[in-house]
Amino acid sequence: MVGKNLKRIGILTGGGDCPGLNAVIRAVAKPAMNEYGATVIGVEDGFEGLVEGSMHELSNRDVSGIINLGGTILGTSNKGDPWHYPAEGPDGKTVIVDASARAIKNYNRWALDALIAIGGEGTMHISHKLAQLGLNIVGVPKTIDNDLDGTDVTFGYDSAVSVATEAIDRLHTTASSHHRIMVIEVMGRYAGWIALGAGLAGGADIILIPEIPFKWDVIFRKVLERSTHGKRFSIVCVAEGCKCPDGSEVVQEMDEKRTDAKRLGGVGEVVADEITRGTDLETRVTVLGHLQRGGSPSPYDRILATNFGAMAVHLCAEGKFGTMVALQGSQYLGVPIHDCIAKLKTVPREHGWVQAAKAVGTSFGEE
Ligand code: F6P
Repeated sequence: MVGKNLKRIGILTGGGDCPGLNAVIRAVAKPAMNEYGATVIGVEDGFEGLVEGSMHELSNRDVSGIINLGGTILGTSNKGDPWHYPAEGPDGKTVIVDASARAIKNYNRWALDALIAIGGEGTMHISHKLAQLGLNIVGVPKTIDNDLDGTDVTFGYDSAVSVATEAIDRLHTTASSHHRIMVIEVMGRYAGWIALGAGLAGGADIILIPEIPFKWDVIFRKVLERSTHGKRFSIVCVAEGCKCPDGSEVVQEMDEKRTDAKRLGGVGEVVADEITRGTDLETRVTVLGHLQRGGSPSPYDRILATNFGAMAVHLCAEGKFGTMVALQGSQYLGVPIHDCIAKLKTVPREHGWVQAAKAVGTSFGEE
């Protein structure tokens, strides 16, 4: 397909929201409308809208003044996987069905020439399957977790790290005043990028991430050592996906409507309890939760999102479907979605940020 055949472009935001989604929507819609004269169709609530046929045309007005707006004007859902779709069974109970045919039917019914899917790993998996079935899809990498492969960074990550860093800064003053151990649990799913980034920027004394197994004794020793050296407080930044030394993961709930049923959360409490038990020091926990996903995108994320959105339209115009926009070094390009979903991008144990944190005395709880 060449640009002149790009008459109708669909756009959706899938999975958990994050700052920068609206900046991408704007950066897709403006060039699509103004440069290519295309009609832009907003799909509501992620892939759920594609299955249900809930879509509407976006106007110039809809996408004006939204670069700084958090969330997504299109709505989103992490329960809309067309191949794992919750429906009402005969007895009124929820059953999981394959609704992919409905998604394809609606793509055709709305006469879309292309669909731009903004989302994380789950969204890219679905996009890849739809692309294999012949839909013209281009992905845009979004997630505060920064765990999508193929791109150096995802938009949303920088904003989340800023929020978490500010929280650590605030915890520092109260921790030192009360001589307490402050544990802060941050998001990130199975990757430790947020904990590492915020822990490094906030000067955490201990950072616990899923990629580096830790030992309780090492943590106890670190906080006690600080106490004996006159630093009677410590900041412990814990990624929600951390496994305890016995290998257990702390899960808040299982929700079978989601493709990944597991909802993580609670490891901060476990770490704090264990530190109190092992050191007899006073401990408090803060679970940052969805504060990391809310609010305005950082300037860096606005710039990244705008580049990603504009690039996605160009990839569509060039007919480069089945690709995901990526930033590699200083270059924006399209990479096959397939290459981005083969594995999660987790923190390499020897990553420069890990080394830098260790150099300034931060412990990762390893022997
Ligand atoms: O993937 C983004 C993320 O915020 C993860 O860091 C977190 O584990 C998960 O989503 C939380 O999901 P929900 O918003 O459904 O609770």
